[in-house]
Amino acid sequence: MITTTQVGIIGAGPAGLVLAHMLAARGIESLVLEVRDRSYVEHRVRAGVLEHPSVELLRDLGLAGRLDREGLAHRGIELAFEGRRHRLDFLELTGRSITVYGQQEIVKDLIAIRLAAGDPIVFEAAEVEPCAFDTPHPTIRYRHDGQDHELRCDLIAGCDGFHGVSRPAMPGWTSFEREYPFAWLGILADAAPTIDELIYTNHERGFALYSMRSPKITRMYLQVAADEAIENWSDDRIWSEFDIRLPTGDGFSFNSGPILEKAITPMRSFVASPMRSGRLVLAGDAAHIVPPTGAKGMNLAIADVFVLAGIIDRAYRTGRWEGLDRYTDTCLGRVWRAQHFSYWMTSMLHRLSDDPFQYQLQLSELALVTGNVSAARSLAENYVGLPFAPVP
Ligand code: FAD
Ligand code: PHB
Repeated sequence: MITTTQVGIIGAGPAGLVLAHMLAARGIESLVLEVRDRSYVEHRVRAGVLEHPSVELLRDLGLAGRLDREGLAHRGIELAFEGRRHRLDFLELTGRSITVYGQQEIVKDLIAIRLAAGDPIVFEAAEVEPCAFDTPHPTIRYRHDGQDHELRCDLIAGCDGFHGVSRPAMPGWTSFEREYPFAWLGILADAAPTIDELIYTNHERGFALYSMRSPKITRMYLQVAADEAIENWSDDRIWSEFDIRLPTGDGFSFNSGPILEKAITPMRSFVASPMRSGRLVLAGDAAHIVPPTGAKGMNLAIADVFVLAGIIDRAYRTGRWEGLDRYTDTCLGRVWRAQHFSYWMTSMLHRLSDDPFQYQLQLSELALVTGNVSAARSLAENYVGLPFAPVP
């Protein structure tokens, strides 16, 4: 079956869905193709921190109703080391703050609003393949409900994440990569958070992060070895490890409770360049990955599609697609800043080796960012989110 749209979007994650909404707001038609079923993408537990510019964008698009009601406004974070907690007040340092709201809740909201408007998302699209993107008339081939389909469009947006098909289909890109010798074991627990800010802990047994999703649900992460198997981590072992790494001398303690979900995520830095070939453009995790310590991945995905939607809008208004030539450079400026920030936060907070010299350097850095206002402000500005790049 042959169908036609203006922009074919591969992937219904944050990048693909925000792009679809930004285009719809400008009267541009798109079709979203997603390999998984709706329930799967709505329940995939991942990111939780929205930068200030991401929240503003969702609000401007009229997509932040539930986010504004249920999201948790956080005015800072805490950094813990040597058994003590130190608070960074982002609002005081930058005038801005962040919002904690589960990625899967954003995905749920964006899917519901799009479908209610009568705009299409094809779930369970199989064998998705971007084709003919070296011409002005690209197509996406896929199978759905046992039938072959061809989607004809003006542009393909590859928003299909790190393991998607778009980047491998694209010729001539190179990558910049770093793998880390550790991973994050993340849990979601039915336990009320005991404080209302995130705590990033540098502990001699490894990094730990205390986060949350609601007044009743805690989200927590532990640094584990890169090759660790989740089967080795019983619930008891997980709680005992948090019991060692998280408490601080000032009496901070946390609630435990039934673990609702647990998984190990590898840590990696990755940038593909260029992010476009002809009429195929990558956005979000399809083009770049950051280690989660800076809470940047989902926000970078949103920042990419902000630029892309602006370029597409101009192309339809002027009939000229040259703006695409500037897409990669415009996005990568912000991406590399976030890469550096995520790498720096990761290096400052994780146990990197047994080398006592390295540990002293970490302590010195932590003392600086918690004791010096200029250093604290620099961390805060990066964390709450630098402004989106203007559309080129
Ligand atoms: P994805 O969310 O991966 O979406 C891609 C979509 O494409 C998926 O729905 C996938 O099923 C679909 N797809 C894949 N292949 C195909 C195909 N062949 N055809 C059709 N569809 C396809 N980021 C933050 O900003 N803040 C955080 O606090 C944070 N914490 C994190 C914690 C963890 C444990 C993890 C794993 C990640 C975290 N991230 C965080 C990163 C964040 O989750 C990602 O950067 C974000 O999901 C990127 O969005 P995306 O839309 O680019 O890709
Ligand atoms: C989360 O709540 O999932 C979270 C928070 C901060 C991070 C990463 C993940 O840096």
